[in-house]
Amino acid sequence: MTRALVLTSSILAGNSLSLAEHFQAQAAGVDGLEVTTRDLVADDLPHLTQPELASWQVPAEERSAGQRELAARSDGLIEELLGHDVLVLAVPLYNLGIPSQMKAWFDRVMRAGKTFRYTENGPQGLVEGKRAVILAARGGQYAGSELDSQTPHLKSMLGLMGIREVDVVFAEGLAMGESRRDAALAEARQAIDDLIERLA
Ligand SMILES: Cc1cc2nc3c(=O)[nH]c(=O)nc-3n(C[C@H](O)[C@H](O)[C@H](O)COP(=O)(O)O)c2cc1C
Repeated sequence: MTRALVLTSSILAGNSLSLAEHFQAQAAGVDGLEVTTRDLVADDLPHLTQPELASWQVPAEERSAGQRELAARSDGLIEELLGHDVLVLAVPLYNLGIPSQMKAWFDRVMRAGKTFRYTENGPQGLVEGKRAVILAARGGQYAGSELDSQTPHLKSMLGLMGIREVDVVFAEGLAMGESRRDAALAEARQAIDDLIERLA
């Protein structure tokens, strides 16, 4: 059984062109593939703050009630990540970056001593045997150019934790006219269908 964790981060709700929804619909009922979805916008994780960061440093049995509550956010998200085989990141491009909701998730799962550790040779990933899929939706056209700072950033964060096998499905030019949008979506949906076949 392959367990996929789909993280959505579009703030457009019903107006989202949602590649994630296509992934979920196509994956539903596929033998050998089980999908969990987490809507990071509904989760409304706050920015990471010093007290929350500090709660991670305190041994679990010594945490105050407040620290237990703060540390539980990161602990729960890391446990969920480790409980799946494939991480599917549905990421719209917002102001040339990732949605802040998704950054808030990465800020909690990229945790020294849990998902990576510092060594004399630099950080070493501790998340083993997992792969990731990035579903990248954009109004404009950037893939392969230096303006696409989003996918390298995502790959660097995943790589730091040890997740190096990453597929990217682009749906670009979604705000560049109807025919361009329809063609990009059709191509992206086909790429998702092909990926699902490989994942199952
Ligand atoms: C707040 C905001 C910022 C955006 N910034 C960019 C941008 O910098 N570049 C771009 O190409 N598209 C940008 N877009 C367009 C989205 O990337 C595009 O609408 C995409 O389809 C959103 O994905 P979704 O349909 O899954 O929500 C932005 C959209 C919003 C709502």
